Amino acid sequence: MTSYKDLGLVNSRELFRKAMEGRYAIAAFNFNNMEQLQAIVQACVETKSPVILQVSKGARQYANQTMLRYMAQGAVEYAKELGVNVPIVLHLDHGDSFELCKDCIETGFSSVMIDGSHLPYEENIALTRKVVDYAHQYDVTVEGELGVLAGIEDEVQAEYHTYTRPEEVEDFLKHTGVDSLAISIGTSHGANKFKPEQCTRNAEGVLVPPPLRFDILEEIEKRIPGFPIVLHGSSSVPQDMVAVINKYGGNMKDAIGIPEEQLRKAAGSAVCKINIDSDGRIAMTAAVREVLATKPAEFDPRKYLGPARENLKELYKHKIIHVLGSENRI
Ligand code: G3H
Ligand code: 13P
Ligand code: ZN
Repeated sequence: MTSYKDLGLVNSRELFRKAMEGRYAIAAFNFNNMEQLQAIVQACVETKSPVILQVSKGARQYANQTMLRYMAQGAVEYAKELGVNVPIVLHLDHGDSFELCKDCIETGFSSVMIDGSHLPYEENIALTRKVVDYAHQYDVTVEGELGVLAGIEDEVQAEYHTYTRPEEVEDFLKHTGVDSLAISIGTSHGANKFKPEQCTRNAEGVLVPPPLRFDILEEIEKRIPGFPIVLHGSSSVPQDMVAVINKYGGNMKDAIGIPEEQLRKAAGSAVCKINIDSDGRIAMTAAVREVLATKPAEFDPRKYLGPARENLKELYKHKIIHVLGSENRI
């Protein structure tokens, strides 16, 4: 058993308490390789922001669980070396079984998500309760989910949103004991969150997606005041970066994300954690494609992964400062 406390990590409880009080959100950035992790640490050091490092089941298989344990510890030490004691959470994203959550807790994760949102309500409660009972013995925090996001999650694809039902949240919290709750109010995973025909065009001709269901969020806040809410699927899919990808040989069609002002508004509410993965993938791919297309003789990975890391760092700093509001919160 490796305790996250021995790795210098923290759970999410205190970070969410402060985020709720200060009306901002903690960044939850997914990673599975060294350059992404370096970019996250550098961005958080430069902005003095706490952070949640997210690892999906697929990322854990890709990177290897032993590597991840040392990478997370390395992130804590790297931040200190850069001169800032950044509070870092290592979080399992979309855990789909008790065994996976238990394994992660035993290998140094300080927080886990058990995603029973696709299950019937009672089964979601039973599975989530089991994970909470185990996790809390080790002071590991647990995120549950109610409602289903449209889009792709690992291999699961849902065509339509099933919005969170506000009338279920109190009962879910009471029966599961979770520390935070992911909800469905119109965000979705991946780079194609909306079909163009679902959007309208503004005066400049830019596609504007349907707004998030803030009415549902407000109803949930009323029923569970002060309880930390999580938004998944919160990439904005920067159109300038998509254009770079497509200019240099990519083919990202109809890529549409959540407008940043909607996320800024959410961050000022009970939403304490905002999940961003796709935007990081887009930033990295744009930089790699540009280098490989403009310098075709280049074959040293540092020459394209270095610019990718720089582009990522700038993206993360932008999110922290202009979207989440978590700058100078450590
Ligand atoms: O919510 C899903 C995350 O973006 C992780 O994606 O399962 O492809 O690693 P992944
Ligand atoms: P995006 O695909 O919008 O980045 O969402 C990531 C996410 O929710 C990870 O859990
Ligand atoms: Zn997610």
